[in-house]
Amino acid sequence: MLRLRDVTKTYDGKSEVTALAGITLTIDPGEMVAIMGPSGSGKSTLLNLFGGLDVPTSGQVMVAGKDLAGENEKERSLFRRSKISYIFQAYHLMPTLKVSQNVALPLHLAGVSSTEISRRVAQALKDVGLESRANHLPDELSGGERQRVAIARALVTGAPLLLADEPTGNLDSARGEEILKLLRTIHRERGTTIVMVTHDHHAASACDRLISLRDGRVEGDGAVGGGK
Ligand SMILES: Nc1ncnc2c1ncn2[C@@H]1O[C@H](COP(=O)(O)OP(=O)(O)O)[C@@H](O)[C@H]1O
Ligand SMILES: [Mg+2]
Repeated sequence: MLRLRDVTKTYDGKSEVTALAGITLTIDPGEMVAIMGPSGSGKSTLLNLFGGLDVPTSGQVMVAGKDLAGENEKERSLFRRSKISYIFQAYHLMPTLKVSQNVALPLHLAGVSSTEISRRVAQALKDVGLESRANHLPDELSGGERQRVAIARALVTGAPLLLADEPTGNLDSARGEEILKLLRTIHRERGTTIVMVTHDHHAASACDRLISLRDGRVEGDGAVGGGK
């Protein structure tokens, strides 16, 4: 599903920053993987490359058999829409749209019929426990609720690859636990490949494999005992 070869990413600015310093790894279809590492170790940068939101400075990134570095922004965006869903650290909800409209957005972009949209949005909101908030605006919700809207929006498309940046970061432990359970169910029932950046060892233990980053390099990569 994901294959990186000798990938580096540097940011130019006042001084050059090396975010990724040579990463080679493969994530197979149907894996559920946690990525951990100290702040600044390159986790978000790596996830953005997986998601085609950014391109590497050097090296190759293959996502679902496609070399995204060779594609222009428009092609990458079309590809993303059908194959990848993304739970952002900062939610990125549209402030003027109601919760249900935010969740429906990727389906509208994909040209899904309105009856089908209503059905899938209702199910996704039920999955994250937010049926009663469908007609609210994002700024009427708590941080944790907004996070759940972002999760519903990511689940609604049924994309085969789900990328999540700290999906339980703003949730209390009970809610966090529910979301982890939900992600595992999606993973098991739909075979969705899930890559999740997290600071939380408990969240990582819900995954089957843990990749640790340090200073833009893979420091560790192995099976997790916990996968339930
Ligand atoms: N747009 C950017 N411009 C310049 N430096 C960046 C940018 N994004 C990330 N960085 C730097 O790259 C490094 C890795 O960042 P990031 O991938 O966000 O780490 P993490 O998610 O592990 O905290 C950090 O040193 C960060 O400051
Ligand atoms: Mg980050």
